[in-house]
Amino acid sequence: MNNKCDLTIVPPTFNEKDNIKPLLDMIGRAMKNKKIDYEVLFVDDSSDETPEVIEKEIKNRKNIQVRMIHRPKKRRTGLATAFIEGFEKARGEYICCIDSDLQHPPQIIPKLFEKALGDQAEIVFGTRYVKGGSAEGLGSLKTFYGVYRRAVSLGVKYFTQILFIPARQTSDPLGGLFLLKKSILKGVKLSPVGFKISVEVLMRTKHNKVSEVPYAFLARENDDSKATMKQGLEFFKHMWLIFTTIPEAGRFLKFCIVGGSGVFVNLGVLYGLVEFYEMNENFAWAIAVILSIFSNYLLNSLFTYSDKKSETRNESMRRIFIYYIISFLTMILNFLVYRLIINFGLHYIFGAFVGILAATILNFVLVTELVWRLKINVNNQK
Ligand code: GDD
Ligand code: MN
Repeated sequence: MNNKCDLTIVPPTFNEKDNIKPLLDMIGRAMKNKKIDYEVLFVDDSSDETPEVIEKEIKNRKNIQVRMIHRPKKRRTGLATAFIEGFEKARGEYICCIDSDLQHPPQIIPKLFEKALGDQAEIVFGTRYVKGGSAEGLGSLKTFYGVYRRAVSLGVKYFTQILFIPARQTSDPLGGLFLLKKSILKGVKLSPVGFKISVEVLMRTKHNKVSEVPYAFLARENDDSKATMKQGLEFFKHMWLIFTTIPEAGRFLKFCIVGGSGVFVNLGVLYGLVEFYEMNENFAWAIAVILSIFSNYLLNSLFTYSDKKSETRNESMRRIFIYYIISFLTMILNFLVYRLIINFGLHYIFGAFVGILAATILNFVLVTELVWRLKINVNNQK
């Protein structure tokens, strides 16, 4: 058996005994005459006869190379780890992740592959959300269940895309149908949590291009979706893990959280100085502002820009200095926007709100560029 091939198709299986044969038939038909050297690698966690059915196919099918990783009970730790094991054992230069329950039409597999070659894309998504695609399989819009599932599906899609910039590279980051070039996984550690290995791949790998191909997500014929409430919670746990372990993931949100904490530092210090030290209110205000900017700086360097630590004391001092200047500049902007909006005859609370918004955005852009800008690695310069 050849050690390398063009494409490994990885369908994970959890109690899919009735779907194995039709799936392989459809893959065979889709790949016929395509001149793509491919294999199918099942990663199985089933407790029913699915592994026996797959074994039989491995023996009997002559036209398709079929393999299986059947995981023993103690290794059945969910879909994410199933994919990770599949990725490790895949012999293909490209890997295609596809559901084994026929909801993802196998006809799309050669299209994903050809798109990757044509576009020189390292990742190609199947998408339900552009012209030519559809999410019908989530349920009819005439039923409550269908409307509910589609709303949840779109809700989590936008949630993910608002929070994480790399998830905007495709219109369907959570559909579960995608192809990737195996080489982008080299040296990358994927997190074994949850259902959505695609988000992991988008967030943690280095890649130049992501493309997509539309498809219709079909209704499930045998059995039910295995998506449960527990998986819903796992999803948010997974997104939380991405948020906390990848420095650039959701950076603006991190920045806003730190900014929010600064409000409390400011008010706390002000209150303490006035109430307990009977300090003059103006003086106390100035100290509260200075201290809250400092706490923001510290928290931002620990949390928001944890990947861009200062290397020397000098550098820290310089950063703090620039940070203060930017903070004062944006405070002025905050006030100007506030006045401008009041002068337009709008409510002052609205003015204050827009002022804060504008100042936060400008502050974020400036500190990202001027305080925590990626350092040019001197060693790499010619
Ligand atoms: N090996 C293994 N281990 N496979 C599993 C496991 C597991 O723990 N859990 C589920 N699978 C397999 C199923 O057998 C199926 O082939 C595929 O993973 C998806 O599971 P479904 O239970 O069919 O999920 P779904 O239909 O609710 O969700 C699908 O649609 C979503 C789009 O709305 C999946 O494709 C999702 O990835 C997708 O986001
Ligand atoms: Mn399904």
